[in-house]
Amino acid sequence: MEKTKVAIVGLGTVGSGVAKLLLDYGDRTARHAGRTLWLEQVVVRDVTKTRDCDLPAGILSDDLSRITRDPEIVAVAHLLGGLEPARTVMLALLESGKDVVTANKALLAEHGPELFDRARELGRSIAFEASVAGGIPIIANISQCLSANQIISLTAILNGTSNYVLTSMEERGLTYGEALAAAQRLGYAETDPTMDVDGTDTAQKLAILAHLAFGARIHWRDIPRQGIDMLDVADLLYAKELGYRVKLLAVAELTGGDLEVHVSPTLVKCGTPLAEVRAAYNAVSVVGDAVGRVFFHGLGAGQMPTASAVVADLIDTVVGRTAITFRTLELWSQREALVAPRAHDRMVGRFYMRFGVLDRPGVMSEITGVLGRHGISIASVIQHEAVDGETDVVPLVIMTHQTTEGATRKAKEEIDNLKAVKAGSVRMKVRD
Ligand code: NAP
Ligand code: HSE
Repeated sequence: MEKTKVAIVGLGTVGSGVAKLLLDYGDRTARHAGRTLWLEQVVVRDVTKTRDCDLPAGILSDDLSRITRDPEIVAVAHLLGGLEPARTVMLALLESGKDVVTANKALLAEHGPELFDRARELGRSIAFEASVAGGIPIIANISQCLSANQIISLTAILNGTSNYVLTSMEERGLTYGEALAAAQRLGYAETDPTMDVDGTDTAQKLAILAHLAFGARIHWRDIPRQGIDMLDVADLLYAKELGYRVKLLAVAELTGGDLEVHVSPTLVKCGTPLAEVRAAYNAVSVVGDAVGRVFFHGLGAGQMPTASAVVADLIDTVVGRTAITFRTLELWSQREALVAPRAHDRMVGRFYMRFGVLDRPGVMSEITGVLGRHGISIASVIQHEAVDGETDVVPLVIMTHQTTEGATRKAKEEIDNLKAVKAGSVRMKVRD
């Protein structure tokens, strides 16, 4: 059978999974590619590290030129995180005539225009299915399978680490710190897990999906975003009491011709498909004008689910499918934006608010007064009694009727400044 040489740069969580699939299941990839994908070289930073896979002798090095100088290597899995040296390495691979497959959404969200332009100039391709939602084939579905549709909305859980943390706190009683440490041990988190829990990773993935699904030209930094890092386990328990689960949602939705786009921890109604997404699973709910609603669910982080997407991209690349889709993708091209982002303050919805308030007469009326002045109507209130002698600060939880992001943001700022209100209040969107 014909042999096509491929290589890997980066042999961490994802790279080791890719090596295992190529080396241990070569017959499977050969069947789908019609040729053997031969792992010729693997380049890492530190060759002395213990690896989570067995490589044939002589293929591991810290010398990128063993790939760039080998004209027989046609495609490279680029599996290092962060911006540098990831950007320089990708450019070097493209310049040396290699097609590239990557899982690095941070790099694409930051340097996508430069990298895609360079690949187009050089007649090369970049495949990136693994960069969003791990094992879920969402890039192919949005850019190819749903291309007859005008996408109307996309609502997703895109960060496996955050979802794992939320589920572990809610269902297993783990503290935030314990749950995050477990996500790191399991290989879900980024090298700097701050990006997972503060909404950055989700915003980077949403920026890529919004480009593909809506023709938006929005930079991830311009996506209003909030993470799960300011939540308390109490919020998860109040949400449960109210019939909701807290999820870190990425939303891009056409509203009045504009694109509403944000990343927000959200109370999602129990029993709805997104509320049932557990652990490191991701989900993407897409509404298209022809197809209606389509729901994708699968592991969004972890070694083998991500490797599954990378190896499929390698196969598509060596058989020539990626070159065709890459040419027509128009991602980060010079094309004008098809839709403009809508001011976040105009977003309409229900909200959850939690304040720590002094257990004194008149405090409730001060707070409801502020809400009333901002035109916010209260749907329900929870205030449990303080345990005797423990504290004179009690949590006050308010669910609003339909209002706007702007009204609740301003009202919260005003309430936070009241003398009877302690620091650390929380405001979240609600999705019924
Ligand atoms: P990782 O475990 O930290 O592995 C990164 C690898 O890159 C390491 O093997 C490291 O080499 C190598 N590396 C770093 N700098 C290098 C350099 N200058 N030259 C050559 N190799 C270098 O990261 P990961 O979890 O596999 O993630 C890789 C990428 O996939 C990231 O962009 C991440 O966002 C993305 N991703 C990860 C997941 C997941 O579940 N983990 C899922 C989807 C996407 P050494 O081992 O020698 O240090
Ligand atoms: N750190 C990312 C996550 C990896 O937890 O979702 C997958 O992109």
